Amino acid sequence: MRVLAIETSCDETAVAILECTGDVKGASFTILSNALNSQASLHAEYGGVFPTLAKREHMKNLPLLYERVIAEAGADVDLIAVTQGPGLEPALWQGILFAKELAEKTGVPIIGMDHMEGHIVSGLVTKTGATNYELGTTALPILGLLISGGHTELVVMRSWFEYELVGKTKDDAIGEAFDKVARLLGLPYPGGPQVDLYAARARARGASADTHGIVFPRPLIHENSCNFSFSGLKTAVLYKLRDIGELTDTTKEHIADAFQTAARDVVMHKTARALEETGAHMLVVGGGVSANEEIRVGLRTLITDRYADVSLSLPDTTLTGDNALMIGMAAYLRYSAGKPGGPLEARGSQSLAQVV
Ligand code: KG4
Ligand code: ZN
Repeated sequence: MRVLAIETSCDETAVAILECTGDVKGASFTILSNALNSQASLHAEYGGVFPTLAKREHMKNLPLLYERVIAEAGADVDLIAVTQGPGLEPALWQGILFAKELAEKTGVPIIGMDHMEGHIVSGLVTKTGATNYELGTTALPILGLLISGGHTELVVMRSWFEYELVGKTKDDAIGEAFDKVARLLGLPYPGGPQVDLYAARARARGASADTHGIVFPRPLIHENSCNFSFSGLKTAVLYKLRDIGELTDTTKEHIADAFQTAARDVVMHKTARALEETGAHMLVVGGGVSANEEIRVGLRTLITDRYADVSLSLPDTTLTGDNALMIGMAAYLRYSAGKPGGPLEARGSQSLAQVV
């Protein structure tokens, strides 16, 4: 089956065509064409995503990217998949209207997809070649750790594509905290990769809390729940910076390390609790923050040391950020499982637990 996928939930316009076979018991995906336009540099001057600008850029880019993928892969497809939420509603509508028009013109069935489900599928598949991904054997229940710019959630999937919320952030998303801390440090948007880089430099010099002495709080770590909170951690960074005054590159590296270590510890702790609560056989991680090296290492260590009977599935580095491939793969799996989803409309604050 050939799937055309469209993703416009935030500041990436992405269109892809994939050839898909198999089902949730084992599937194979070949990328026939994959086009992505990131608006990150345009939004950088606002220090975050500016919705009207995102909408305008999607409107401009969608026809161009679509032309590019059909020139490479041909216009003949069996299914159209489009992200319908969560995300910025004006941005989501651009993708939905474009996809709907195509579906009406061609008579091809269309399926509205959840962006976070796409991130889960990104984590579940393995890259098996330059243009290939595979879904291997999985074992339900699967615990999903979703860490992105807009979300921080733990969800459990006990049967395919049915989710129960296990925990979520009470305030900022983890990626948002990374972006805000980067901004406090004078580093450009998107800040997550910058904080990752600065913290890695500190570690490469052998610096850690033992040497630089900076320790930030681990919010809610002792609370009896799988919920997160990141706004207090960000504020702690702000106060520390006020105390320090003039910032050198070395101090920035130390702050980045201390913040990232605190965030990592919270993620590890809450994930461990969720594994206990749910009895999950697999842990899958998705979302932009899953690119973070320290968090990846922390989760690998957690599983090896304490949950050897749980399998860990981290997204390939080509799939951590927003993309259309994950939407296409998730749509195909959903379609082949006979779960085509609900009515097609933008749902900016849709939560996975509400998805049908
Ligand atoms: O999933 P994503 O691309 O978009 C949303 O759905 O939100 O996630 C974007 C978030 C941003 O906050 C970005 O700073 C963060 O992921 N991010 C990282 C890293 N790479 C991206 N955060 C920490 N470390 C990274 N290496
Ligand atoms: Zn995302």
